[in-house]
Amino acid sequence: FSVEYHDSVGSTNDRARELAGEGATDVVVLADEQTGGRGRLEREWTAPPGGVWLSVVTRPDIAAAQAPLYTLAISVATARAAREAGVDARIKWPNDVVVPVGDDGDYRKLSGILTEMEGETDRVEWVIVGPGINANIDADALPEGATSIREEAGDVDRRRFVQRLLESFDDHRNDLERVVPAWRELALTLGQRVRVDRPAGEIVGEAVDVTESGALVVETDDGRVTVSAGDCEHLR
Ligand code: BTN
Repeated sequence: FSVEYHDSVGSTNDRARELAGEGATDVVVLADEQTGGRGRLEREWTAPPGGVWLSVVTRPDIAAAQAPLYTLAISVATARAAREAGVDARIKWPNDVVVPVGDDGDYRKLSGILTEMEGETDRVEWVIVGPGINANIDADALPEGATSIREEAGDVDRRRFVQRLLESFDDHRNDLERVVPAWRELALTLGQRVRVDRPAGEIVGEAVDVTESGALVVETDDGRVTVSAGDCEHLR
């Protein structure tokens, strides 16, 4: 990967989209601070100096339905890099990297990922995966319910962290069959009682598995439901 670094940028995903439009591939946009960070579902993402805010532009030979595996791959890579930094990082389905609080499924959020893509159903043109990691940031500069590497384990060498993250992502994208098994090992969601807000309506039940494409299997009172996209909340 080649890296384009910014001290400050609106959103690394926006800059990555410009580069993707110009035909770039395997380019990483990295910033110390974002002034217009974007989260999933049109939310804002708080991205003060000291974080690891990055977006990876790729042009993989995959169908759109496989793109979620790229998101899972970067969440596995993020969780691994955070674990190497001494944080008890786990993954909340589909791709938030969180730190457990207690034993009942409660957690604080360390990282989220914004994935964007363009192309045809059977063949994407580009995929951008944009993880944001609260790294060397005080918790009081972050939204409620969030934590940082500084808070959990002390400051991390961000250059090394990004290097490890990209190495791990590169391994997984070249071996997509290994992504879900690796994800399972880090999952905090499996075995939890969950509420999932899906486009087709809300469901409640126990999260029992993920499919090979990364969809969540929930055991509800009305039987098993497989959810490929949605917002998931752990219940107690
Ligand atoms: C979420 O959990 O809602 C996803 C948050 C994604 C934030 C990252 S920071 C790097 C990249 N650039 C953005 O504008 N957003 C993502």
